[in-house]
Amino acid sequence: MILSIESSCDDSSIAITEIETKKLIYHKKISQEAEHSAYGGVVPELASRLHAVALPLILEETKPYFKSLKAIAVTNQPGLGVTLLEGIAMAKSLAMLLDVPLIAVHHLKGHIYSLFIEEESITPLLVLLISGGHTQIIRVESFEKMQILATSMDDSVGESFDKCAKMMGLGYPGGPLIEALAKEGDEDRFDLPVPLRNSPLIAFSLSGLKNAVRLKVEACGGYESMSHQDKCDLSASFQKAIKLHLIQKTKKIFAKEKIRDFAIVGGASANGYIREAYEGLCDEFGKSLLVAPLEYCSDNAGMIGRYAIEAYHKKQFIDPNEIDIISTKKHSSGDFL
Ligand code: KG4
Ligand code: ZN
Repeated sequence: MILSIESSCDDSSIAITEIETKKLIYHKKISQEAEHSAYGGVVPELASRLHAVALPLILEETKPYFKSLKAIAVTNQPGLGVTLLEGIAMAKSLAMLLDVPLIAVHHLKGHIYSLFIEEESITPLLVLLISGGHTQIIRVESFEKMQILATSMDDSVGESFDKCAKMMGLGYPGGPLIEALAKEGDEDRFDLPVPLRNSPLIAFSLSGLKNAVRLKVEACGGYESMSHQDKCDLSASFQKAIKLHLIQKTKKIFAKEKIRDFAIVGGASANGYIREAYEGLCDEFGKSLLVAPLEYCSDNAGMIGRYAIEAYHKKQFIDPNEIDIISTKKHSSGDFL
């Protein structure tokens, strides 16, 4: 079995995965959403301190599996430096104490493997990754060969949901809150720009749209003056603009890439409205759509463990003395080729 740890942002999570069967034997996640909600986003120092409490609590429950462990896996990049450190410190000491190899996992590759929890992996694959930190389309040739085809030039999809929710005084995380309000809203009420609509660029950009939402909130007299219906309508209009942007750029990739399987992963892939749009697009282009079960869309150690099985078979281990955090700059492209 492999014990995997995830602490790249505001979720403390540990999983135990059986190497041969890929079965997820144990999985637990303690989220910090309530603690960060008051700030409208994740506060790194607070997140780090909460990991320091939550991770040992979860680890305690995994003790019965210690004697069966063949490796320890941990997210070491990208993410918040101070929170990655908590997971790494624990993984390092476990690997040394139990004398088993250590596997360093790239968080975004983990998200891709959330598609294959308890399942065989499929490649080649085109993946749209929409999380709190990243927005990318990736061509996954194989476990070893992944190439970024498009990336965001500024904010990510999840981040823009969070920031717009904050502007409307909704709380954190913004994605599920905006999605829920949008269900009651008129998506055509607010005229918002679809980013890069007339640009030939195959890239994403969310910051202009975010600004446009800010101006609409201001035009309403600030979020305190907005009615429930105003918030529903603005949420729906915002979500529609994001959808049109994602679909428009994905179409350009679909026109060039022959790979049949297409997947959406990352926290924002839980969004039913976006999923539905992609079902339509995949039908139109004759592609099959893969998504992870809802519980594994946002950060979790199950996906880190699933990725680690592949790394284990390829003996991709790291010396515990060498492992370090790589809190890569969020929007750099090509950062996991
Ligand atoms: O993948 P994730 O858990 O963390 C990162 O790796 O960043 O993604 C978290 C992001 C948050 O920004 C959150 O608002 C967004 O995923 N999210 C959603 C939904 N559920 C979570 N965005 C849109 N619609 C949702 N239903
Ligand atoms: Zn993530």
